[in-house]
Amino acid sequence: MIYFDNAATSWPKPPQVKEAMNRFMEEVGANPGRSGHVLSIEAARMIYEAREALSALFHVKDSSRIVFTLNATESINLALKGLLKYKDHVITSSMEHNSVMRPLRDLEKRGIALTVVPCFEDGTLDPREVEKQIQSTTRMIVLNHASNVTGTLLPVREIGKIAREYNLLFLVDAAQTAGAYPMEVDKDGIDLLAFSGHKSLYGPQGTGGLVIGERINEKEMIPLKQGGTGSRSEFEEQPDFLPDRLESGTPNGVGIAGLLAGVQFVLEKGVEQIRQKEITLIEKLIKGLKEIPQVKLYGPESHKDRMATLSFNFTHLSPSDGASHLEKEFGILCRPGLHCAPAAHHTIGTFPEGTIRFGLSIFNTGTDIETAIQAISQISKER
Ligand SMILES: Cc1ncc(COP(=O)(O)O)c(C=O)c1O
Repeated sequence: MIYFDNAATSWPKPPQVKEAMNRFMEEVGANPGRSGHVLSIEAARMIYEAREALSALFHVKDSSRIVFTLNATESINLALKGLLKYKDHVITSSMEHNSVMRPLRDLEKRGIALTVVPCFEDGTLDPREVEKQIQSTTRMIVLNHASNVTGTLLPVREIGKIAREYNLLFLVDAAQTAGAYPMEVDKDGIDLLAFSGHKSLYGPQGTGGLVIGERINEKEMIPLKQGGTGSRSEFEEQPDFLPDRLESGTPNGVGIAGLLAGVQFVLEKGVEQIRQKEITLIEKLIKGLKEIPQVKLYGPESHKDRMATLSFNFTHLSPSDGASHLEKEFGILCRPGLHCAPAAHHTIGTFPEGTIRFGLSIFNTGTDIETAIQAISQISKER
């Protein structure tokens, strides 16, 4: 079996992730920061260590500004709903995932103005097109760092500069890049970084987070949920400091233990090295598929503009039939369809059928790629 669905969630995970989760279940297990006994302190220490590891990865100075969530979707909702106010104008791109589009479309119905800047057919975006849309009421720019459909990288650093110049908030959906592409939150001009823990950070499902930059006043941020934090228990009001203001209820301790091990794995390997390996694999895949006339590829050709996620179609087979042949005849697991990103498929011209998506990870090999190229070549000849 070859797993090419890493853009949805990575698998396999490094063995140390499972070991850390087992260790938490067997030796820690307590509620962090609540009870003051040895196990509670150990759970809190582990969660602090996870925040510190993520701070090292994203170059965040104060680890209390990293808030744990269930996934990137929750982080994006928290950033948008926590900060946007009636009549604010927001700019986004036409390559966004529904985790950005759906909350924005809902906020639009409640009085927020939205501009969706069109991307080119390969998913790339001209930063000047974003700048042109800035108005006096613009408050935020929201962009994915890389598309989950084509792997296209958007010009985050350039747009970060524009956001700072116009004093706008900049929210980046790093679901597809956290752990697989170097990131420096402040240098990149990012105010809010939403990430999944379960993709290229190799943590378990049910983990994610939001980095809240120094320019954000957390006291003004409205939490998605309020409740027990283990701190300031004498007050009935939510604490106004981070991370407690935005983290209520018992956290996903076992999940965060796994996420910490995943982030440590990424830090040990090095993001640049991970990217280098993934790029080598995707270039090999693109080179092989370009030789097959019945296959159409989407997204940028240059590795500089992309992640190791690729969309393609057979010219004579629907994405779902193609994916079904790949699984049934060759044991290749991938994702056909719209990938929760209809806007992106409109942009690249593949709506409503979508594409077949291969999302690679550090655990894929050159042999996986050769097998996939052969399989695709065979399917395209037989049908
Ligand atoms: C670009 C992008 N944004 C957001 C998400 C949502 O991530 P999560 O599943 O962690 O909520 C995904 C998931 O595939 C994604 O690819």
